[in-house]
Amino acid sequence: MINFHILTIFKNIFSEYFFEGIIGKAQDKGLINIYTYDLRDYAEDKHKTVDDYIFGGGSMLFKPEPLFNAVENIQKNKILNNNKKCIILLTPQGQQLNHNLAKEIASFKDIIMICGRYEGVDERVRENLVTHEVSIGDYVLTGGELPSMVLIDVVSRLIPGVVGSQDSVSEDSFARGLIEHPQYTRPSMFRNWKVPEVLLSGNHKEILKWRRQESLRKTFYRRPDLLDSVKLSEEDLLFINKLKLKEE
Ligand code: ADE
Repeated sequence: MINFHILTIFKNIFSEYFFEGIIGKAQDKGLINIYTYDLRDYAEDKHKTVDDYIFGGGSMLFKPEPLFNAVENIQKNKILNNNKKCIILLTPQGQQLNHNLAKEIASFKDIIMICGRYEGVDERVRENLVTHEVSIGDYVLTGGELPSMVLIDVVSRLIPGVVGSQDSVSEDSFARGLIEHPQYTRPSMFRNWKVPEVLLSGNHKEILKWRRQESLRKTFYRRPDLLDSVKLSEEDLLFINKLKLKEE
């Protein structure tokens, strides 16, 4: 079970998304808990100020006090066991999220996520409060709320029992370091497009071979960078060499 704690100034954003589908069911089954906290509740003045001007010029930045107060409060009241800490700042400056980073994050029991807004957060939050900085891609969003939802989604899928069949998680793109092979369902003939014959053959050995090769083919053409860090068999290498020859 994983507890996700989201610090935000826009709590309402989250309710709809997390009630539905697999993430909603995961909460019903007690496999994950999602808590949202309004950062303004942790501000120190009567106006509940969470942001301020940037020293030296620029627009607005999250002040450190509400963030430290909120995290420390959660740690005191909600996180009873003194686990290794995981306090994530969602930021375009962070480590880019991928399957391996999601697996690392899924090893924590309590995950605190800070959703930045404005120009970001006071640097002292980075240096003295957060343990991980995570980006979901090389583009700048208006805040960390969407990235935190992406992170919760991808981490939750890795918890046994959240997705109906754990096989389908281990077969996903990236789970084995490759892009997933193409998949088809009925009808076997749609308009003029036929499902590859081998998939209708019932020959499991041949189907597995076809899937592996198509997975390698897709990865070779779309994400050749992935092939450098995946374990390949002799047979895989032969197949990739054939693809390379075709390219020449
Ligand atoms: N906040 C704004 N843009 C972001 C991004 N790309 N990833 C994570 N957090 C962000």
